[in-house]
Amino acid sequence: MADEDMRELLYKVLVVGDSGVGKTSLIKRYVHGVASDKYKATIGVDFALKVLQVNENTTVRLQLWDIAGQERFGSMTRVYYKEAVGAFVVFDVTRLDTFKAVKTWKEDIDAKVFLPDGSKIPVVLMANKCDLAVEGFRTQEEMQEYCANMGFVSWFETSAKLNKNIEEAVNCLVQNILEKE
Ligand code: GTP
Ligand code: MG
Repeated sequence: MADEDMRELLYKVLVVGDSGVGKTSLIKRYVHGVASDKYKATIGVDFALKVLQVNENTTVRLQLWDIAGQERFGSMTRVYYKEAVGAFVVFDVTRLDTFKAVKTWKEDIDAKVFLPDGSKIPVVLMANKCDLAVEGFRTQEEMQEYCANMGFVSWFETSAKLNKNIEEAVNCLVQNILEKE
């Protein structure tokens, strides 16, 4: 294949959600393949890069912006969100308050960042720490309806601890971003 047929895309993707829901853990697991038990709050924003070969002639460089949960009350999100083309909103299935905050995070994204054509960026919801939930957090139907109402492209029950569904969630978001190219 000729070199000019190769595509290399750089995507800035946000990871938001309340403090302690597991954003940093999910990223560490996904990018570095490690689990971390101790909690060290992110200050401001952290970065991670993952290179994905999505097909034989397309490489995606995924720049993950791990935004501190504390920033929900800060004034920096508008700056951090700039030029993002996709996002994850994460909550902790064992803490209902973090699920309630999902709406706030989603609305914050929808109000502050847009694709070049003016449309909303695709956002995937992560119901994290599913290893701790005794039963399903909500029924599949309830969650599907919730996501449709809130404008999420999809949702996944994830676990940074067990490495569950993280790749699936990322691949889903990347597919949605690619479709908008
Ligand atoms: P901030 O940086 O403050 O916004 O928090 P965060 O969302 O980055 O949370 P972090 O990844 O630091 O995780 C908080 C705590 O939850 C840590 O003690 C993690 O070990 C734990 N944790 C994260 N993901 C999981 C999971 O899937 N299952 C379980 N059981 N614990 C998890
Ligand atoms: Mg963090």
